[in-house]
Formats: sequence, C-alpha cells, structure tokens
Amino acid sequence: MCGGTGKAGGAASVGPGHFRLDDPVIQADPYAFYPRLRSEQPVLRTMVGDEPWWVVSRHEDVVKALMDPATFSSRIFPDPNLLFSDPPDHERLRKMVAPWFSRRAVDQLTGPITEHADILAQQIVARGQCDIVEDFAAKLTVTMISGMLGVAPGDVEDLRQLQGFLTEWFEMLLAVRRGVEPSPRARAAGERFDGLIGRVIDEASFREGGLVAKLVGHLNAGELTRAECVSYINILFGAGHSTTTDLIGNAVYILAHSPEYLGRISSDAEFVPLFIEEVLRTRPSFHRISRVTTRDVDIAGQPIPAGSMVRLLLAAANRDPAVHDDGETFDPDLPRRANLAFGRGIHTCLGSWLARLETMIALRALASHASGIELDSLHGPVSQTGGAFNNFGFRHLHVRLSPAAG
Ligand code: HEM
Repeated sequence: MCGGTGKAGGAASVGPGHFRLDDPVIQADPYAFYPRLRSEQPVLRTMVGDEPWWVVSRHEDVVKALMDPATFSSRIFPDPNLLFSDPPDHERLRKMVAPWFSRRAVDQLTGPITEHADILAQQIVARGQCDIVEDFAAKLTVTMISGMLGVAPGDVEDLRQLQGFLTEWFEMLLAVRRGVEPSPRARAAGERFDGLIGRVIDEASFREGGLVAKLVGHLNAGELTRAECVSYINILFGAGHSTTTDLIGNAVYILAHSPEYLGRISSDAEFVPLFIEEVLRTRPSFHRISRVTTRDVDIAGQPIPAGSMVRLLLAAANRDPAVHDDGETFDPDLPRRANLAFGRGIHTCLGSWLARLETMIALRALASHASGIELDSLHGPVSQTGGAFNNFGFRHLHVRLSPAAG
C-alpha cells in the first residue's frame, strides 16, 4: 500500500542514487525509497533544482541534528520567522505566541471543535460520499485556526487559496537566500503573499482579540518587523491547518484500509490517541525539514561543508528499524516511542496539542456517525506532489460512508 499501513512497495528497486526530493514519482510514494536510503546511503547528496542538498534518513542522525541548532541552523532564509530562526530571535518570536498553544489554552477550544466536527460529520455521512480532505478535514481545521488568529471571514478563503502557492513562496525565499533572480512564478507568489497578509495585518488593527491582533501589537511596539509579522501569520495559518488536514486525511486513509479500527475509535476512548500517534509515526504530515550547516561537520562519517543545505527525513527516521522492530508496519497496539512527527528540540511543534485534539475529535465524530468508511472506487486518492517542500498527505481523498445504526 502506498506508504500507508503496509510495507514499502515496488519502486524500492530504484537505488538511492536516483533519489530526488522534487521527483513526483518519489513524492507520490516516498516510503518505497526510505529503507534503501537508510541502509545504503544514510547521508545522501542529492539535488533540489540545481542546488545540492544532503538528505539524512537515520533516526539517530536526525535527532543529533535537531538537538544541535548551533551547527544545524534553521536560518535558511534571510528574514527570520519563528520556524526559520535561531536563538536569540527564535526565543523572542516563540515567546510571543506560546501561551496560546499551551494544553490548557487549547483545551478551551474543545467545545467549538466538537460542535463543528459533529455538524460536518453528520453532513457528509448523510450524503454518503465526500472528499474527506476538502469537505471535512480542511473545513474543520481552517475554521479553527482562522478563529484563533481572528482573521476576518472575508479573508479566510483567500488565505486558503494562497496556501496552494506555498511551494512558489519557498522558491522565492530560496532564490533570495542564494542571491539569484526568482522565477516570475515565484516572484508573483511572493507578491500575492505580501499583499494579502498585509491586508490581514491592516484589518487586524481595527479588531480586538485573536493572534493576528496580538502580533500586530508587537509590530506596533517595534518588537517585530513587518517582514517577520507577515511570515509569522503565514506560518501560523499554513501550519495551523494544512498539517492537521493531512493528518486527518492520512488517518481516514488507514481507516478505509483497516475497518476494524473505526469500531475501536467509537468504543474505546483510550485507543484514539494511540491510533493517532501511529498515524503520525507512519505517515507524518511533514516528511522532511531543513537546516543549513554553520560549520564543517561530520554526519555518520560523511563530511559536510559549512553552508550546506540539509534535509532531515523525519518520515524515514520514524520507521528506522534501529528504533522500531518492524517499523514499516502500522500497529497502534505496539508501544512506539521515538516519534519525530512533531520534530524535536527548540523548534518542536508549537501546535502539537491543537493538532492532536482536533484529530481526536474529528475521528470520534466520524466514528459516531459512520459505521464504515471505504475509498470511492470512482475517484482514486490524489496525493500531494509538486515542489520539494510539500507536506505528505492527500489533496483529495474521496470516500463512501455508511451511516451508523440508530
Ligand atoms: C499533524 C499536525 C502537525 C505536524 C505533523 C506538525 C509538525 C511540525 C514540525 C515537524 C515542526 C518542527 C519544524 C522544524 O523543526 O523545523 C513544527 C513546528 C511548528 N508547528 Fe507544527 N505541526 C502540526 C500542526 C501544527 C498546528 C496545528 C500548528 C498551529 C498553528 C502548528 C504550528 C507550528 C509552529 C508555529 C511551528 C514552529 C515552532 C518553532 O519553530 O519554534 N503546527 N510542526
């Protein structure tokens, strides 16, 4: 099965030498490549566009890099934002919003998330079929993060549409980093982001409450530059919905292949978090994160020069046999530790509890309204492929749902 509940597939015959992060074939089924990558070339030099990148796939090496931000810097773009910053900027930026994502703060959202998930689940089960990504997961997660940010309703759909240009936005930032001319497409995406988020910032000045207004307060107090503020909002909006949308989509994909889990989700409250952790381990929304080396360094015996781009393959590390017996197999009943889906170290995901809570509630809502979920044979799953930065999930996942009895 395509990197899902099963083992690596036929594309495994392609050797590590052919591994390219931006190859659509590899992006559609990266799990086919990871075992050979880990065993034959755990630190591989490959190309992203015309730039060399080092790809690190073993659990131990990925963790070492994540825990050493002085050597493996997140500052891969000139303008720092939370995700792409190092201390001391990182501490300053993270502190500004961290309290909003504490477990206690996020738990306050349980009521609204439950209410919304329930309405959406009822609607799609009544229809009997839907695209679970567009009609359920994205609607839930976009509504929740937009509410937290305090984005005006009229901007929500525009912001969401803009997320389709994230690859070009990253391309634009990478071009700036390298001092080369961005492609017209990348430049246009950069201008669209700046324009729309600029509008969101200006509107927030007139509204109380919400994270955007809070960030604009820091901007007005001179504690945040405008570029940081634009990036921040973009990252909170993007990370706040697309990753969780992918998680819910990936979870439903597994439920469609292993129907026995749906019953357990509806009957056993303790099973749901275990199920979600195993989805995160075997199909994490972020397959890979980036760092740049600040000095010459050695990873697993491979010298890497200062200034090199490094890709840490969280998804490959999560299935490493060195930390998990039979790591390729989806089994929520096994004690699985060492899950890197939310990263590790100073940049550990800020929204991890929000993502877990939304997904728990979403799956429970589905399980309480549907007795069965299967893939729609008329419309096959459409994976996310495209740039080298994509999340791992489905753009579209059409399913058929049977209503629960009573
Ligand atoms: C399944 C859902 C999610 C996954 C798998 C995920 C994964 C990650 C990972 C791997 C990182 C670390 C990146 C790095 O070290 O370079 C990260 C950071 C981050 N995530 Fe998430 N994330 C998810 C949901 C969310 C949500 C719902 C939010 C809410 C806004 C969020 C906000 C952030 C932020 C702000 C950071 C940057 C933290 C920092 O740099 O200090 N994430 N996430």
